[in-house]
Amino acid sequence: MLEKLESLYQEALGALDAISGGDALRDWELKYFGKKGGVTELVRSVGALPKEERAAFGKRANEVKTALEAAYAEREKLVGAMELAKDLEEGEVDVTLPGRPRATGGLHPATQTLREYARIWAKMGFQVYRSREVEDDDTNFQLLNFPPHHPARDMQDTFHTTKPNVLLRTHTSPGQIRAMRELGENGTKPIRVILPGMVYRYEQITARSEVQFNQVEGLAIGRNITMTDLKGTIAQFAREFYGADAAVRFRASYFPFTEPSMEVDVECFLCGGQGCRVCKYAGWLEISGAGMVHPVVLENGGYDPAVWSGFAFGMGPERATMLKHGITDIRYFWGNDLRFLEQF
Ligand code: DAH
Repeated sequence: MLEKLESLYQEALGALDAISGGDALRDWELKYFGKKGGVTELVRSVGALPKEERAAFGKRANEVKTALEAAYAEREKLVGAMELAKDLEEGEVDVTLPGRPRATGGLHPATQTLREYARIWAKMGFQVYRSREVEDDDTNFQLLNFPPHHPARDMQDTFHTTKPNVLLRTHTSPGQIRAMRELGENGTKPIRVILPGMVYRYEQITARSEVQFNQVEGLAIGRNITMTDLKGTIAQFAREFYGADAAVRFRASYFPFTEPSMEVDVECFLCGGQGCRVCKYAGWLEISGAGMVHPVVLENGGYDPAVWSGFAFGMGPERATMLKHGITDIRYFWGNDLRFLEQF
């Protein structure tokens, strides 16, 4: 047994010398000192020896154990140092190399236009008022002077929910009612707000029409607001957004909630009014519906139309973005194609 102990000792020492990694070190420990390790078992079998040999064997076994433990500790230190050196070498960093640029995201082109709108209108004193996207029939139509079977409803095909009278707003105009009722303090306070947000229409999706898009509604209520204010304000917006010498024109039109109503065109900024593909050779681009708030709508908002008046307008930021950048298909906006989005 003593001989066996000596040879195990030599074997273990030799094995230890060859070790260069942490895993092998742990295997070694298990092999010799684990529950079923060589040294452990040999020591355990001391009981099988004749009595008079036991003391000598035990003494030597302890020496071997201590020696191996010391050798192990030393090897462990060495292996640690070797692994650290290897790590440092492999992970060497050249701090003089230029940094790698990180790809950054950007704002969606529609968001960029919305922000530009908000910036321009803020300069003229219009604050942002956020209204709901899920509306009731009353607010989306009725209170805006669309009677139940009025043909003007056909202009805006509607997504209805399974709940009667609950629908996705087809335009931002119902926000006019909510703004007047919330901010007007029973028809006693003037208002100047824009109402940006998503609207929904149950329409065939084509290059020119989507089932969802943004609108920016504008509403000004005061005691002496006239059509002249509306025209001047819109013209100022056009100069800010389309360029200092953008000319605008106003065409009579019809909306149930404004009287009189009009549509606003800006001179085509691509051809300067000469006529081109983008303006369809008209020389003008439509940028907004607008008008004087209908007396019925003022009343529905809590204002006395004999004392108060106001103007309203509605713009389409995606349309404006398309015109500005020559985008020919509105479906790109919600198509999530990075090749499109990365251009802005
Ligand atoms: N709500 C109209 C639409 O979606 C746009 C509009 C026209 C809004 C005239 C207005 C307005 O405030 O005065 O077609």
